[in-house]
Amino acid sequence: MRIPFVDLKAQYQSIKEEIDKAVQDIILNTAFIKGKAVEEFEKNFAEAIGVKYCIGVGNGTDALIVSLKSLGIGLGDEVLVPANSFIASSEAVTAAGAKVVFVDNHPDTYNIDVNKIEQAITDKTKAIIAVHLYGQPADMDSVLGIAKKHNLFIIEDAAQGHLAEYKSKSGEWKKAGTFGDIATFSFYPGKNLGAYGDAGAIVTNNDELAKKARMYANHGRISKYDHEFEGINSRMDGIQGAVLGVKLKYLQEWTEKRRAAALYYSEKLKEIKGVTTPFVDYEKYNPVWHLYVLRTEKRDALLDFLKSKGVAAGIHYPLALPNLQAYAYLNHRPADFPVASAYQQQLISIPIFPEITKEQQDYVVNTIREFFGK
Ligand SMILES: Cc1ncc(COP(=O)(O)O)c(C=O)c1O
Repeated sequence: MRIPFVDLKAQYQSIKEEIDKAVQDIILNTAFIKGKAVEEFEKNFAEAIGVKYCIGVGNGTDALIVSLKSLGIGLGDEVLVPANSFIASSEAVTAAGAKVVFVDNHPDTYNIDVNKIEQAITDKTKAIIAVHLYGQPADMDSVLGIAKKHNLFIIEDAAQGHLAEYKSKSGEWKKAGTFGDIATFSFYPGKNLGAYGDAGAIVTNNDELAKKARMYANHGRISKYDHEFEGINSRMDGIQGAVLGVKLKYLQEWTEKRRAAALYYSEKLKEIKGVTTPFVDYEKYNPVWHLYVLRTEKRDALLDFLKSKGVAAGIHYPLALPNLQAYAYLNHRPADFPVASAYQQQLISIPIFPEITKEQQDYVVNTIREFFGK
């Protein structure tokens, strides 16, 4: 049996008519950049997350850069970023002109270790980027407490966390993207809400930030040639807005399917010795399972075995950010980030997507069982 890592074709087939019509409408109306479909999507996405504003941009990396710039972060400033993430989380800080300061990840949740944040704070620190990695929210109460104490901004990188929920101290369940000053999303095709090309969004409840971000992503302007400052060109395409508008209607349903699949995996895999299933405190966290990530000492051999049996697995991420060549200039040693550095050799992501069948999941589980039974 061949199990893909994600199955975007199956998803397209299930909504083909609606997608084809939405895309055709954009072409017929030549509404290629921004336009009505994008505006409608922005409105509906803001509503789905529970925020006042959504600004569609070119991709999730730009969303982070525009957010940092809108907060006034740049040269001379430091921004805290989890060591275990995709490079966009840190790359954006450098692109904004500021300095990246990494923080190790928590051994259970893989998200930023809130117990190690304060030791990374200096008088130059301006913000924390809280990544909701793999679709599980970061420990936002702690992040909020630290940010308040040290007067820092919070940018939530929710690229992998569409509709993820977190129960804050007040007892209220709220969506990822509603806790910080500003939050960013990626709609890269493989994401839980994926466009048919690059796309991203910024969400916030702050009037001033929303206005700045919208202008910054559109050459610093309000109207056509009225540029108040220099920005960049990062606007959402009409076709992406139209595709996302169709898909957003199904996102909750798809998310529940991911949750059911994750539960099934955890139930079946917990009996297998040698592999650690994802840790979730369901009292406070309701993840959306962008990735289902296991940990094992025999990672590389398991990866090869799965591949030989037709199961597409992945590694997120093969090198913790501080260990990448791109950050050699920071002169870190792997021991500076002991958890992230150890886990880069242990993490393995197995296929999860809304359309995955029980039969496919059983095959994955049985293949893993066969490997450890050998
Ligand atoms: C955690 C995280 N942040 C940011 C991004 C950047 O998003 P994009 O690929 O849309 O630029 C990604 C996408 O892979 C991501 O996984």
